[in-house]
Amino acid sequence: MKSTLTAALLATLASAQQGLQPPVQTNVTVFAPPENYTIPKVLYGRVRALECPGNDVLLATWENYLPVDGESEGCPPDCPENPYIPIYESFDQGQTWAERSRVYDTQNGWGLRYQPELFELTEQIGDYEPGTLLVAANSIPADLNGTRIDIYFSTDEGHTWEFASNVAEGGYAVPDNQYDPIWEPFIVTHEGQLIVYYADQREPGTNGTLGQKLSHQVTDDLQSWGPVVERPGMPVLAELPNGKWIYVFEWLNTDVVENQPGEPAFEFYYRIADSPLEVADAEDVPLLPFNSDSQPRGTPYVVWTPAGGENGTLIAGDNYHTGIYKNTQLGARDAWEYVETPAGLAYSRSFLVLPNDPSRIMIIAPGPNPGVGDNIVYVSTIDIDDDETPYPERYTGHQATSGKCASRGEDAAPTDSTPTPIATPPVQTALADKLATNGVAFAAVLGAAALL
Ligand SMILES: *[C@@H]1O[C@H](CO)[C@@H](O)[C@H](O)[C@H]1NC(C)=O
Ligand SMILES: *[C@@H]1O[C@H](CO)[C@@H](O)[C@H](O)[C@H]1NC(C)=O
Ligand SMILES: *[C@@H]1O[C@H](CO)[C@@H](O)[C@H](O)[C@H]1NC(C)=O
Ligand SMILES: *[C@@H]1O[C@H](CO)[C@@H](O)[C@H](O)[C@H]1NC(C)=O
Ligand SMILES: *[C@@H]1O[C@H](CO)[C@@H](O)[C@H](O)[C@H]1NC(C)=O
Repeated sequence: MKSTLTAALLATLASAQQGLQPPVQTNVTVFAPPENYTIPKVLYGRVRALECPGNDVLLATWENYLPVDGESEGCPPDCPENPYIPIYESFDQGQTWAERSRVYDTQNGWGLRYQPELFELTEQIGDYEPGTLLVAANSIPADLNGTRIDIYFSTDEGHTWEFASNVAEGGYAVPDNQYDPIWEPFIVTHEGQLIVYYADQREPGTNGTLGQKLSHQVTDDLQSWGPVVERPGMPVLAELPNGKWIYVFEWLNTDVVENQPGEPAFEFYYRIADSPLEVADAEDVPLLPFNSDSQPRGTPYVVWTPAGGENGTLIAGDNYHTGIYKNTQLGARDAWEYVETPAGLAYSRSFLVLPNDPSRIMIIAPGPNPGVGDNIVYVSTIDIDDDETPYPERYTGHQATSGKCASRGEDAAPTDSTPTPIATPPVQTALADKLATNGVAFAAVLGAAALL
């Protein structure tokens, strides 16, 4: 007993120095909306780990369907009825969450309604220092008559926000071909430039394809934006350890849909490219053969983690399956394996590789029932690699530039690049309190009970 405790204490101290070991957990509530929220209440969850402060901060965000009182008029900037982007924080690897801030539309009087993307700069872009946080979101009025992808920034780790710039503007926010909206921003930085990818419906496609092309625009100062570069909707990218990039997207391929049983759905495709600016020329690959039961569809997401072997592991997911798709061969075709998870379905799920232990993948899933009902923002954490081999020189996090933070020195790798995964369960509160009073930087933890 004593030696177990001592081992646990040492392990805890080690993990406190290297960051708290993320526990495996299912359906921890991040936010349960009040009764009066508008159905579907919450959708489109995103979760990020901050790197520059180096103090174990996770931030989560989602689409937040505030109560409306029947009015479809917009209201002035900061109007309380306009939807805002919520920013929630966790200091204990996702076991407990609290509100940190709200990002309001200060430009359009419309609200920031859909598709928030949260990003931490790890290199300087224009006047924006490493460590600056960005939120890109779709600003849309209550009557849906317009879509603007706007970027807000924070220089205080997401406590306060200011407008940075507008990336692009589209029309009526309904995904039918007769309309011309833009959707779903995703941010990447690459060689001193910042790229925003989005789904672009401004030129109608052939009937049946729902017209969504993927576009990106590039900036080197976060103020002026380059021309639209087109792509074939819902783009997400991740950098691979061989320098290549994987780019995932959904596509309603009419040839496939005709032969598909049941409801037509957006197939999950990917491309592997030499740089994030070259995905337009890369080949389309369906993640799994069409018509297989586990073929992914809709709201694609992808992350890469160094855990799981010499190539690390790609983790992909969709909104038709509760499981994930693993690939330990750098995205090679026919090397995807479907693995079940305890997390629910959601529109839409996303993943975070937890920096303190890259074999732990956090899934944020506002469910259980995206279109219909009482959704709650849940996070779950799975362990994709029981083998606790350290990951030398391969530390990375949630985004392509992870593992570096220019504000900690040029190309600074994390001070300890080989976090030792420790398989102890989360410490008891009393122990955490004791550590806290002993001056160890440590957030007291209490396992949050799953609601469902
Ligand atoms: C919605 O419910 C919350 C919590 O009960 C309450 O604080 C808020 O005032 C309500 N909002 C509206 C617009 O009714
Ligand atoms: C919707 O926006 C378009 C383009 O700005 C404008 O011409 C039209 O009048 C707007 N419709 C409504 C109902 O506000
Ligand atoms: C698309 O094609 C379908 C089937 O031919 C047709 O019913 C529908 O009206 C078309 N929609 C548009 C916007 O052209
Ligand atoms: C790593 O990826 C390469 C390229 O796909 C593959 O040939 C190799 O077998 C992979 N290694 C492992 C351990 O899977
Ligand atoms: C987690 O929540 C989902 C709904 O989002 C539910 O379907 C699933 O059964 C829950 N899992 C557990 C283990 O409670």
